[in-house]
Amino acid sequence: MPKAKSAYLCQSCGHSSPKWLGQCPDCGEWNTLVEEVVRASVGGKAVERIAIQAPDILSVQSLDARREPTGIPALDAVLGGGLVPGSIVLVGGEPGIGKSTLLTQVAAAMAHEGEVVLYISGEESPSQVRMRAERIGALSENFRLATSTDLEETLAILRGTEPRVAIVDSIQTMSSSELEGGAGGVSQVRHCASVLHAFAKEAGIAMFVVGHVTKDGSLAGPKVLEHLVDCVLVFEGEGFGRLRTIRAAKNRFGSVDELAVFEMTESGLSEVENPSQLLLAERQAGAPGSCVFAAMEGRRAVLLEVQALVSPNYTQSPRRTVTGLDFNRVLLTLGVLEKRGGVRLAGQDVFVSVVGGLTVREPAADLAVLLAVASAAKGAALPEDLVVFGEVGLTGEIRSVGSVGARLKEAARMGFRRAATSRTGKQDYSQPGVTVGGLRNIADALSLVSE
Ligand code: TYD
Ligand code: MG
Repeated sequence: MPKAKSAYLCQSCGHSSPKWLGQCPDCGEWNTLVEEVVRASVGGKAVERIAIQAPDILSVQSLDARREPTGIPALDAVLGGGLVPGSIVLVGGEPGIGKSTLLTQVAAAMAHEGEVVLYISGEESPSQVRMRAERIGALSENFRLATSTDLEETLAILRGTEPRVAIVDSIQTMSSSELEGGAGGVSQVRHCASVLHAFAKEAGIAMFVVGHVTKDGSLAGPKVLEHLVDCVLVFEGEGFGRLRTIRAAKNRFGSVDELAVFEMTESGLSEVENPSQLLLAERQAGAPGSCVFAAMEGRRAVLLEVQALVSPNYTQSPRRTVTGLDFNRVLLTLGVLEKRGGVRLAGQDVFVSVVGGLTVREPAADLAVLLAVASAAKGAALPEDLVVFGEVGLTGEIRSVGSVGARLKEAARMGFRRAATSRTGKQDYSQPGVTVGGLRNIADALSLVSE
């Protein structure tokens, strides 16, 4: 038996340290190092002089031919065309976002197609899982349900049930008796995930593993699992809003470009066919501080409302609060607006957010942020039928961005008649029904506010 030894493992990123530290040197999180028993390595085995010839690539079977639909087309698209047998998909997200709901729906749809699907819950009692399944109309004979928090027992259930697809909800509740340390710790989570992956590969079944992410890093998050799994799906959405998005943060079998948008309803998650419409539904057209941004979410154009509020702050330190956008990028845009655009923000609190709980990562949002803040600061609304997109440079120039055609098409579809962007790119800026104004710099952009 290898000797047990202990180490301090960061519960956020898995960094291992021989002694306790207040801050993880790897990910920079505070108070995340926890002592855990780790197994000592077995020691170097003598390398024998054996020869193995690797096969040529033509004789290797491609996985693509064997993809299985999950029964939820939007999810299939995010996965890159369906589930790949022998793979493991990590579904990460905050508690309450809808991970169990989505996977119950997948189980239901696949069971309905005649596949045996096994749902192993370590968090809820069988009757709780049944209640959810009833609510979304998921009861069927092929839907097998077990509750277990023990890895070895889970493997036994997997062997006995022989499912085509297995769902483990969640990896944080699973623990192996081979390791010391409680469920949810980095070493247990990592060990359980790698054993389950090995099982999935050997048995040729697809497996979904749920992983909770909490903001304070108190649970071993999917970060430590990312390299162990084939695909990481990230579930996002504003806690109490209805909208949920799923994107792939990693995908060995497809691109990470697709985004699925769902709405939480009385009977589970339903796909949102027209996200722009839902996102703009409550917009107060003509209100200062509101700007519509034609965003690219994966390969799809979506219209989003960027909102800003600028209000006086009488203390020494005015606040900057940003939701759904990159904080530093927004600060940069505010700096450019103040310095190059002459809009005074000193002594003012500035709040900027994207409505609907979507997170925007592309620099093309700069222009919308700039205009929303300028409009809020001046108390003057932007034209109601205007959409914008463009990057803002440090000298106050507006830069062109990609996917112009898709953005303009979506704007036209949603009834917007004006667009403003930089027209310097080598792209087609014509779109029937939409007048596309070219902006060169911040002064051009600000002229839209006072119109
Ligand atoms: P759940 O899937 O349990 O979240 P997670 O597994 O990510 O922790 O469900 C999250 C929330 O969704 C829960 O508060 C109840 C709500 N919900 C609905 O609104 N409609 C439904 O049909 C279901 C099943 C859940
Ligand atoms: Mg759950």
